[in-house]
Amino acid sequence: MNTTQNAAIHSNAVITAIGSYVPERILTNADLEKLVETSDEWIMQRTGIKERHIAADNQFTSDLCFAAIRNMMERYDVSVTDVDYIIVATSTPDAVFPSVASQVQSHFGITSAGAADIQAACAGFAAAIQLANGLLLSRAHRKILVIGAETLSKITDYTDRTTCILFGDGAGAFLIEASEDGHGDVAAVYNKTDGTRGHLLYRSSLASAIGEHDIHTNGYIVQNGREVYRWAVSHVAEGVQQLLERSGHSAADIDWFIPHSANMRIIESLCERTGFLLSQTLSSINLYGNTSAASIPLAIDEAVKAGTVKPGQLMLLYGFGGGLTQAGVILRWSL
Ligand SMILES: CC(C)(COP(=O)(O)OP(=O)(O)OC[C@H]1O[C@@H](n2cnc3c(N)ncnc32)[C@H](O)[C@@H]1OP(=O)(O)O)[C@@H](O)C(=O)NCCC(=O)NCCS
Repeated sequence: MNTTQNAAIHSNAVITAIGSYVPERILTNADLEKLVETSDEWIMQRTGIKERHIAADNQFTSDLCFAAIRNMMERYDVSVTDVDYIIVATSTPDAVFPSVASQVQSHFGITSAGAADIQAACAGFAAAIQLANGLLLSRAHRKILVIGAETLSKITDYTDRTTCILFGDGAGAFLIEASEDGHGDVAAVYNKTDGTRGHLLYRSSLASAIGEHDIHTNGYIVQNGREVYRWAVSHVAEGVQQLLERSGHSAADIDWFIPHSANMRIIESLCERTGFLLSQTLSSINLYGNTSAASIPLAIDEAVKAGTVKPGQLMLLYGFGGGLTQAGVILRWSL
């Protein structure tokens, strides 16, 4: 039996609409200078982040999902009432249960849908696309909403200057449908998780979960920034190369590289190590910060709205983060 689970794959999944939303309130580097000892220059140089959007106190991840879906419906004239499955990738659900996906089902009166949240941190959106492709291919479902959404501001410690400069809030949504003729947009997938490094980046809550490493129990994001950085530039670059290799493509065949927008310096290093040019890289880091599961759809939607992404182009989406987890997808954009 061939055990290579990450080889080029079958797909009948077609992306038929995209939408996004970020909250109104903007938190600039100048605002952060008033909260912690930092500077615009330090933040820009180390991260490439200029500002991020922050949810209102009474605005939660489900609200961001609703707005992103409304944005998609307005732009593409699509209905979601006949969606038959909803996947929300998030690390910041309104509550552990009910799922954010079930809030989406209820809000839009989608009467015959299943719904589940998945948590793969910053790899969540790519992982959700992979799941949607599998559900469509198995014919279990035929019209799926895939949303990446976060309100990371609610779990960010604004007294910790090593983390509070990084994170922002936002949501991006894809509508993905089974094609009539069996052709699909998903060309290849890749996954790799290293749980032995889980303690390098986590949200503290159940102290026992991270074992001896978890000394924080306040519910905030905790990270060893330097180690996460090292892991990203070496292991993630290797993962991107694995995905390319297993798809039979080289970096030169890919029109757009969309790595998770963790930090501009990480993106630059990934480009250097994988052969992608910065000019073919889409990111949402500068104006939105690190929005975890929302960062990839936000970056794609900015480019779609600007008209830079064209139907037929190949994209490599690559999420990475808490877990430590990586998930990548090569897609042929058909919108
Ligand atoms: C967080 C990160 C930007 C910090 O940059 P760095 O170059 O590694 O900085 P260090 O942690 O080594 O700290 C260097 C100095 O800057 C200081 N510093 C940290 N945050 C600062 C801030 N916001 N403003 C000013 N100085 C800061 C540190 O205290 C340290 O000072 P010292 O030398 O006097 O001790 C960087 O490690 C990073 O991007 N890591 C990856 C994080 C990430 O992307 N996480 C999500 C993955 S999905």
